[in-house]
Amino acid sequence: MKAIGVSITGCGSSAPTQVMTNDDLSHLVETSDEWIRTRTGIRKRHLATTDSSLSELSAQAGKQAIAMAGLTPGDIDLIILATSTADDLFGSAAKVQHILEADQAVAFDLTAACSGFVFGLITAAQFIRTGVYKNVLVIGADVLSRWVDWSDRTTCVLFGDGAGAVVCQGTTDKDHLLGFAMYSDGKQHDALNLGYGGTDKILKEGLTVNQGTYEPITMKGRDVYRFAVEKVPEVIEKALFNGQLTTDDIDWLILHQANQRIIDAVAKRLKIPSEKVIANLDEYGNTSAASIPLALDEAVRQGKIKPGDIVASSGFGAGLTWGAAIFRWGM
Ligand code: ACO
Repeated sequence: MKAIGVSITGCGSSAPTQVMTNDDLSHLVETSDEWIRTRTGIRKRHLATTDSSLSELSAQAGKQAIAMAGLTPGDIDLIILATSTADDLFGSAAKVQHILEADQAVAFDLTAACSGFVFGLITAAQFIRTGVYKNVLVIGADVLSRWVDWSDRTTCVLFGDGAGAVVCQGTTDKDHLLGFAMYSDGKQHDALNLGYGGTDKILKEGLTVNQGTYEPITMKGRDVYRFAVEKVPEVIEKALFNGQLTTDDIDWLILHQANQRIIDAVAKRLKIPSEKVIANLDEYGNTSAASIPLALDEAVRQGKIKPGDIVASSGFGAGLTWGAAIFRWGM
């Protein structure tokens, strides 16, 4: 039997229509357009309306990706929804399967914060390479506006909502996931959190449980910045090495869209010219698991990324987690 490879054949994205500018934020917290732009590169973010849901945003992105791949929802075998902000703590992937009417697909959530999409893509490839599934939809989606403390200027200026998706297909004549690497470091788990916070509830004498909900996002911004600038170039080089490639082979660099300064520092360290760097965080802010597929989809639809181009993608964030996937787009 011929080896089964992975081909990435479709992409899609969806962002809420409601937009919040830096000036809007300056009426909410003590900040300014100038501070946010110069420190982060962000000008706007799209925020989910009160009647929209993570599942719907995800399904919209997924639908576009399936159409671009020339498939129908009924062709999809597996849906991986990378998110940290599911509508339901039990998972939202099955609801996305239902909205898409992807009746043949098994669906599950994958949580790895801003690394979620890259981890999801690599997970999808394992199912395809083993011959278990042929057509896999990978969605990265987050609605962090639900979990941001809108009175904390150190975090609320950074995040936005959105969804992006790709379709991965099994093929016998090529493997377009060229190399990957993934890491976790739980020692730094408290650098970035959307943690559970409850209070004790006594059920009876000697029997107490803890109940509550999740607390807004907290972040040690400088620590995360330093971690990203050090580890992201390393993990991209490792993924390139695993694929027997060098930085010269990269046509496009798409990093998790957290901060333009991080993107510029990583590109500089890898000696990748700015013309090869895809960035759209000025429009969307940090959309966590959605940011890479959202940027990929825009660049593909703008005709920047063409079939056959080699894309180096890297996600990094809470956990801490980080990973890179080098892939050939399309075909
Ligand atoms: N407006 C105005 N002033 C501000 C704001 C704001 N929105 N936020 C912070 N400040 C102030 C601080 O209070 C501080 O004031 P002080 O000097 O009087 O104490 C000053 O600005 C500098 O603060 P720093 O935190 O040192 O600013 P820095 O240049 O490090 O930028 C930032 C902060 C943008 C958060 C940066 O550290 C960063 O991007 N970190 C990485 C975040 C990231 O990548 N997250 C990705 C993962 S997200 C995920 O996984 C879900």
